[in-house]
Amino acid sequence: MLSVWLATAFLIAIFLVQRLRSPITKLPGPWHTGFTSLALKYHEFTSNRRLFIHNLHKKYGVVVRIAPNEASFASLEAIREIYASGGSGYDKTELYDLFRQFGMKTMFSTLDKYTHSQRKRELADRYAMTNVLREEHVSAITDRARDFVSRCVASSKSVDVYVWLHCYALDGVTNFMFSPGGLQSLNSDSDFEIMEELTYHQSLQKNLLHYYLPNLAPYFPKNLTPRHAPKTNTYVLKMSAQQDPSQHTLVAKLTRKDSPLTHAQVAAECKDHMAAGIDTTGDGLCFLMYELSQTHHHLFQDKLYNELTTVSSETPLDRFPYLDAVVKEALRCAPPIPMSFPRFVPQGGRTIDGYYVPEKTIVSCQPYTVHRLDEDVFPEPDRFNPDRWLEEKGAAERNRLFFAFSTGGRGCTGRNLAMVEMKVLLREVYSRFRTTVAVDMAGCMDIDDQIISARPRGQSCRLMFCERAEGGDAIIQ
Ligand code: HEM
Repeated sequence: MLSVWLATAFLIAIFLVQRLRSPITKLPGPWHTGFTSLALKYHEFTSNRRLFIHNLHKKYGVVVRIAPNEASFASLEAIREIYASGGSGYDKTELYDLFRQFGMKTMFSTLDKYTHSQRKRELADRYAMTNVLREEHVSAITDRARDFVSRCVASSKSVDVYVWLHCYALDGVTNFMFSPGGLQSLNSDSDFEIMEELTYHQSLQKNLLHYYLPNLAPYFPKNLTPRHAPKTNTYVLKMSAQQDPSQHTLVAKLTRKDSPLTHAQVAAECKDHMAAGIDTTGDGLCFLMYELSQTHHHLFQDKLYNELTTVSSETPLDRFPYLDAVVKEALRCAPPIPMSFPRFVPQGGRTIDGYYVPEKTIVSCQPYTVHRLDEDVFPEPDRFNPDRWLEEKGAAERNRLFFAFSTGGRGCTGRNLAMVEMKVLLREVYSRFRTTVAVDMAGCMDIDDQIISARPRGQSCRLMFCERAEGGDAIIQ
């Protein structure tokens, strides 16, 4: 018996010495994170990873160890090193295997830089601003923004914009990818079901189980399998085989004669962009409209209204500085993907923010913290205040720390499309209406973490739309 105790004590001693000698132990952080990842995993499974990490940063500063093999950073220097060194930064971790589509790797779920850049070359030009701003795309987005407004003002009662914003985002992205085969979920019941299938799911814990126990995943019971999307799959497979898509769509590029992609690969890539483009844009707009609708923020709505109605309707969307400030401030306060984008430190290890971090350590930055920690750059960080983006002083620092779309070669491909969609919708709404939070609004708007993204906890946001009289005052209906 004594020999068993001695062997156990010996093994524990070796484990402790190894941990104590690891360079990552020298990083700031709570003592227990040098020995176990239990605290991190507990907060992940209870939907609290983002705030756990944020609070550690508030206590320990821009570098914090969060597990024996994982560290979080919140400085510009770290962002540049992790996400942009050599163009695309470090390789992704296996967390991204969860984002395979039809069992296949896509651009987003590819882990290594080389394979990623090959796939990116096949499609990047579709998301260039010059393509997004083509008349056919912008007028399709504008039509959908008008459908959104019609939906919202169809009755004099309050309206759940959470639902219709997700429809708007889905119709926008599918039109961009598949025109003329884009969805019309704002107007069609069967297309609406696809929006529901993609938006209302709860698979955080199920995804985490698959990530941490991949070998057991094939034996999990059916109710532990992450979301199914049969209607979406049927639609995407059909659209990816379209014979004559519009020339400037994503699918036209991916299915061109000399494309190296199979039909299944095209479908997987398109499904990924569809999923990437619905919750992000939908939730981002939802948080934004909720903020603007609060009584103490009506001043911001008035400033937006003044800008939108005093310049000509022909003015290009990037010439509305207040509109730009409102969008950026919403994405700063509630980034639709607020959590860490994990990467592996490359072979040989790297020095990040003055700390040597060994190879294969998982490192990341999370937008939620990057947008709040440095109060010299973002004073009163938790306050929604679009005006901060108009101050000349500190503009460069603010823009450099704006991390909602990530950065470098693996930053958001759909950024231009998302910005245009958001701005077109806001222009249609706030040049004509004042919105207020409805008295029957019961949905909780706290940020609810998903696997890396987030959404309003209550998945409902009831607002009132009041048409403005000429001169700007809202007519109370
Ligand atoms: C407000 C809206 C959006 C936000 C805040 C956003 C944010 C992001 C972020 C942070 C990433 C990097 C995530 C990571 O490294 O883990 C990303 C990647 C990506 N996003 Fe977006 N996104 C938005 C809208 C869109 C739209 C509309 C599309 C396309 C239709 C899109 C397509 C993609 C794709 C394809 C990637 C993978 C890029 C790559 O790996 O090279 N996103 N997005």
